Amino acid sequence: DWPGLGPKLCLRAAAMGKRVALVLAGCGVFDGSEIHEASAALVHLSRGGAEVKIFAPNIEQRDVVNHLKGSPAEEKRNVLVESARLARGNIQDLAELKASEFDAVIFPGGFGVAKNLCSWAVDGKNCTVNEHVNATLQAFHSAKKPIGLCCISPVLAAKIIVVGTELTQGRENESMRFPDAETASAITELGCKHICKNVNESHVDKANKIVTTCAFMCKAPLHEIFDGIGTMVQEVLNTGE
Ligand SMILES: *[C@@H]1O[C@H](CO)[C@@H](O)[C@H](O)[C@H]1NC(C)=O
Ligand SMILES: *[C@@H]1O[C@H](CO)[C@@H](O)[C@H](O)[C@H]1NC(C)=O
Ligand SMILES: *[C@@H]1O[C@H](CO)[C@@H](O)[C@H](O)[C@H]1NC(C)=O
Ligand SMILES: *[C@@H]1O[C@H](CO)[C@@H](O)[C@H](O)[C@H]1NC(C)=O
Repeated sequence: DWPGLGPKLCLRAAAMGKRVALVLAGCGVFDGSEIHEASAALVHLSRGGAEVKIFAPNIEQRDVVNHLKGSPAEEKRNVLVESARLARGNIQDLAELKASEFDAVIFPGGFGVAKNLCSWAVDGKNCTVNEHVNATLQAFHSAKKPIGLCCISPVLAAKIIVVGTELTQGRENESMRFPDAETASAITELGCKHICKNVNESHVDKANKIVTTCAFMCKAPLHEIFDGIGTMVQEVLNTGE
């Protein structure tokens, strides 16, 4: 009880010191982490008073995309090196992440999740998942620590955690705004439950402590995506062990 602190400041104080690991998949929507989603997560974590450490796997990217042309580039890049751009150089190899040192983990989206953290982009439901991503998700889930996922990242939970996990990919029946709605069917076929949510909202699977928001799965103005990621981050910070 801090006399003189308004409800907003009390909320901030309650979340103060939450240690959150953010896992990146490169830098750029078509072959790495979606930059705005990563940035939105970091802004909301900062506002929430969290202590953030950033990680990425030390592996070669599946491909490199020229983001000006939208076409493949004949070069090789490393996921950890590229993610270091978003982390302003302050990043660690995902192999070094110890769930015991954190209260929560968050995965922004972007094609890098489906190309580098798992092989969803080519194998769909049959995809393999990077061993360190697999170990990270299993460790946080079994320690009952919250996991925040945006955009395409919920497929990681669908592959690793499953058994009735509730996830959102936005809305299933609005193909103009949600062109990738088949992902919702795919995660349902994997045994998860798809929950319809607006882009400015997130869904909390209370039993599994998994918080998801659709982000760029929805063709929406950037500020609505930003707000949705904000609700995801808040729910992650407000979910205790
Ligand atoms: C997944 O594997 C099954 C059985 O091996 C196959 O029938 C199916 O086409 C595969 N799906 C994808 C998306 O690769
Ligand atoms: C995740 O790792 C476990 C071993 O801990 C393994 O049995 C499982 O097949 C892996 N899952 C995927 C999707 O790679
Ligand atoms: C949404 O579409 C699915 C099939 O894609 C259908 O089963 C479901 O009933 C639809 N829901 C609504 C609310 O229209
Ligand atoms: C989210 O967006 C919907 C539709 O635009 C709006 O009705 C609702 O009030 C918004 N919710 C929040 C929490 O901002």
